[in-house]
Amino acid sequence: MNELEIAPLLRGLSFDGEKGAIVVFRETLGEAELVCAPEELAAKFAPGIRSVKVEGVGGFLLGEDYDDAVGGTDEAPRATGRAAVVRNKVCVVTGGAQGFGEGIVRELVANGALVFVADLNAEGARRLADELNEKTGRTVAFGVAANVSDEDSVKAMIDEIVRTAGGIDLFVSNAGVLKAGSVKEMSLRDFRFVTDVNYVGFFLCTKHVAPVMEKMNAPTGRYFTDIVSIASKSALEGSNKNGAYAGSKFGAVGLTQSFAKELTADHTKVNVVCPGNFFDGPLWSDPERGLFVQYLNAGKVPGAETVADVKAFYEAQVPMGRGCYPVDVTRAILYAVEQKYETGQAIPVTGGQVMLN
Ligand SMILES: NC(=O)c1ccc[n+]([C@@H]2O[C@H](COP(=O)([O-])OP(=O)(O)OC[C@H]3O[C@@H](n4cnc5c(N)ncnc54)[C@H](O)[C@@H]3O)[C@@H](O)[C@H]2O)c1
Repeated sequence: MNELEIAPLLRGLSFDGEKGAIVVFRETLGEAELVCAPEELAAKFAPGIRSVKVEGVGGFLLGEDYDDAVGGTDEAPRATGRAAVVRNKVCVVTGGAQGFGEGIVRELVANGALVFVADLNAEGARRLADELNEKTGRTVAFGVAANVSDEDSVKAMIDEIVRTAGGIDLFVSNAGVLKAGSVKEMSLRDFRFVTDVNYVGFFLCTKHVAPVMEKMNAPTGRYFTDIVSIASKSALEGSNKNGAYAGSKFGAVGLTQSFAKELTADHTKVNVVCPGNFFDGPLWSDPERGLFVQYLNAGKVPGAETVADVKAFYEAQVPMGRGCYPVDVTRAILYAVEQKYETGQAIPVTGGQVMLN
């Protein structure tokens, strides 16, 4: 056994009814409350033990949150109700450096989670984590480099997280890209690019996170973990001249249902959130490259003279009259985590724009 197997096992063994301890790996450790061989760990570990030395592997520090594990201070904000469901849980948000992902990261941190911001833009991910740690005065986030469409990169990301925190309770597969275009004109290269990030990326992340969750949940059989994919309203209804994107998002629903059926045996739930448009995010509102400017310049909205006109046109298509915000998406994620009797579901968050049959 190596540290990548032992850390999730310790997180599972320290399960408190909601979650396990944060487990921080150290190659060397001085004194430890428990010293044992790998195969003795399950029998000798008792909840409350805060340091473990496993012969031939290394040391592990345990605590309620990250700072408690490494320094003995637990100052995570107390939370009640649905917000408490992620308190001191280890969460990962891919594509977390900007847009919906960034907003979900901020919401999860506000609810007391330890969040790994995983992004192709490693610099942006670290900047966001640094900002959140500084603002809260605690270690609440880490930035980690990841390309979800590259298997080696995904594996390296998961390993780094397991060494740093012991496991993963909630994996939010949010990284996604969009290239619109007519089926008659779109290049195979563009089609594959969208498919690789949105569809293959969700497969690769699930492939590498599911075994970690299995190890965490095995000791008690009562530990629930969650994988939540962020698809789109275009996962529920086709999108004109946007087939690569909608197809990849429909595909994510199919993967979700299939993974959910398999992983329920490990106590891992898999659900997918299908948001409406985040009009205030960079995809739509970037002043130079955003869709509002592009649609204005392309004359896509008849009579529109300003970006505000284009925005108003799109908002009017939503029964609730506004775009979707990260807080709306996070509420659906928290529901999926809190709910222990549902898996494989597509949860729309569209202000009524798309309704399930
Ligand atoms: N913006 C919307 O209106 C909207 C609506 C419905 C669903 N969504 C979905 O929400 C998710 C986030 O969308 P957004 O608009 O916030 O996107 P965005 O373009 O603002 O941000 C995407 C983030 O993902 C990162 N990323 C891109 N490719 C990656 C890769 N291969 N590996 C790791 N990180 C990568 C980018 O660096 C960026 O930080 C996507 O899955 C998108 O399809 C967006």
